[in-house]
Amino acid sequence: MQQKIDEMKPVLLKEIQMAASLTALEDIRVKTLGKSGSITSLMKELGSLSLEEKKKAGQLLNTLKTEIAEAIEKQKETLALKEMNEKLESEKVDVTLPIRPDTHSGRIHPVSQVIEEMLTIFAQMGFDLAEGPDVEDDWHNFEALNIPPSHPARQMQATFFMENTEDKILRTQTSGVQIRTMENKKPPIKIVAPGRTYRRDYDMTHTPMFHQIEGLVIDTKTNLANLKTTLFEFMKLFFETDDVSLRFRTAYFPFTEPSFEVDVGCSRENGEFKIKSGAGWIELLGCGMVHPNVLRNCGLDPDVYQGFAFGCGIDRFAMLKYGIPDLRSFFDADMRWIKHYGFLPLDIPNIMSGLSLNAGGKR
Ligand code: DAH
Repeated sequence: MQQKIDEMKPVLLKEIQMAASLTALEDIRVKTLGKSGSITSLMKELGSLSLEEKKKAGQLLNTLKTEIAEAIEKQKETLALKEMNEKLESEKVDVTLPIRPDTHSGRIHPVSQVIEEMLTIFAQMGFDLAEGPDVEDDWHNFEALNIPPSHPARQMQATFFMENTEDKILRTQTSGVQIRTMENKKPPIKIVAPGRTYRRDYDMTHTPMFHQIEGLVIDTKTNLANLKTTLFEFMKLFFETDDVSLRFRTAYFPFTEPSFEVDVGCSRENGEFKIKSGAGWIELLGCGMVHPNVLRNCGLDPDVYQGFAFGCGIDRFAMLKYGIPDLRSFFDADMRWIKHYGFLPLDIPNIMSGLSLNAGGKR
């Protein structure tokens, strides 16, 4: 038996080392360590030996088995690395090659495009960009916004609570960014904050995750006329028409006083929805003058500072501007939809050429 083992070992080790592919190596493994492999067969022969010989040969066989298994494992790693390197080498991409027309199929989502459009306009109007976290605390999402724990307004915002946390929630509105901004910055403040928001809701015009953009302007003399002008100028640029009329209806939001809901004039001609004055109205956003309690909660003296805030659904603006009927389709990740409603990556909105001029031509 010893002789057999001594003869086998160098031959097998050599074979393993010479194996040129993972398949060849697997063949060797089956041939030696497999059910009817050479080493396994020797193991079976042990039964016919005397006790003394069995012990000795058994040890030798076990060592051989381990050595062969280790050699196979080692060679396997070497081969795998070699195969990967060959693959990487053969799949090399030359990124300096010009774009081929058929690789031109990526699209920008309408929500991303509309956020870019909005930020382009607000930047031109002198607004800074502000941000807040999606996972928000009770203070910023509710309490500081003049919505105490028992306030009925909490029920209107079907909140997602987080498991195992004291007061963390998924923010139901971007209004919390107002608080974060005022806590960290002294007026004058002029910011917009776009972002994701979350509510337990699902139908043609509601999805559990949606997008809002919040606006906040705080200074010593900021007034309602400033709010109206800001929104009016924004709507004209966003909807790319001068024929914009706005209607301010009194409404209630805990964090503004007075509060308004704003409608924009619209019409439906030959089935096509259009923003224009005269015909009907469609609701666009909520706004108002920042409530003194909110200012106080952020350490600002309401006798010195005042300002306005507004908040709108970005997805809704995208639906209105680009005639997209169902909000749920925004998040279906359907390639046919994105090809139809999406924008080419180089259609970057800019005020000079008209925000959607190029996009309109190509879509
Ligand atoms: N946060 C409100 C909502 O989600 C929208 C809103 C209304 C924001 C009035 C404001 C505001 O800043 O002043 O429905």
